[in-house]
Amino acid sequence: MQIEKVMVVGAGQMGAGIAQVCAQAGYQVYLNDMKEDIVEKGLGVIAKNLERQVQKERISSDEKERILARFIKSIDLKDAKNADIVIEAAVENLKIKMQIFEELDQYAPAHAILATNTSSLPITEIAAATKRPEKVIGMHFMNPVPVMKLVEIIRGLATEGEVYEAVEAMTERLKKVPVEVNDFPGFVSNRVLMPMINEAVYTLYEGVATKEAIDEVMKLGMNHPMGPLTLADFIGLDTCLYIMETLHEGFGDDKYRPCPLLRKYVKAGWLGKKSGRGFYVYPSKDK
Ligand code: CAA
Repeated sequence: MQIEKVMVVGAGQMGAGIAQVCAQAGYQVYLNDMKEDIVEKGLGVIAKNLERQVQKERISSDEKERILARFIKSIDLKDAKNADIVIEAAVENLKIKMQIFEELDQYAPAHAILATNTSSLPITEIAAATKRPEKVIGMHFMNPVPVMKLVEIIRGLATEGEVYEAVEAMTERLKKVPVEVNDFPGFVSNRVLMPMINEAVYTLYEGVATKEAIDEVMKLGMNHPMGPLTLADFIGLDTCLYIMETLHEGFGDDKYRPCPLLRKYVKAGWLGKKSGRGFYVYPSKDK
């Protein structure tokens, strides 16, 4: 199964990162979102990241231009007709993802793989929105995508072996490390990470320590590159809450109950770095 043309649905922080690594690996990339200004913003982030690599003399200016020339802007899911693989990185919401997959299934050629970057939702259920569940697979990248080596690859119940192998080979071409996991809520990454973040929020909620102290303990004591509350802000508190709710509902176990403080922040619109405020406040240039 030959993959050359990629469509990335969603030009936010994950989608733009995925699109960047695909273009850097030589794929032609349709970068899709609902509005042109969101696509432009995603391409702006990519251009900035590539320029940083030019400044560090890792790539030449010509190479940067060649990578940027591999992008095609898209605001119509019908562009999936040109793709060998579509990687969906839209908002973490099952209803929305199922709707997108239903549409992609109508437009993408019969051979095309439909992958989702979902961080916790069931691949089998997303696949059920299509008439090609054997071509649906989970391809879970980590944030920031250009830096993080891991891609969790998750088969749905019906995913063909050939599709798994094609996605594994593509992941290696992206210079990432594929790790196979089974289709359970949160897979491995978020089954382990999110309860840790949620517990950090509880320690703040219960007044065990300040946010700075909690982060410092995990950074200096466990050698984590970021403290859990800083990491939660970086991922997005809405995403963290949604993943905890998926674990809570998926396993029916109260050990996954989201901390009320996390809910409160999300209700207040304090979504972390992207909204300018989460557990910490971010100056507007860092938004
Ligand atoms: N995009 C592209 N490159 C970035 C970047 C971004 N957003 N942020 C940092 N980088 C690059 C920098 O350019 C730098 O590159 P070089 O070393 O090549 O010069 C490198 O990353 C290190 O950056 P910094 O020196 O500025 O900062 P740092 O050493 O503190 O590293 C970090 C930043 C890589 C983000 C590090 O703090 C880290 O690893 N944090 C934890 C990230 C993590 O846990 N991610 C997983 C989140 S969970 C997830 O994604 C799954 C989910 O479903 C929720």
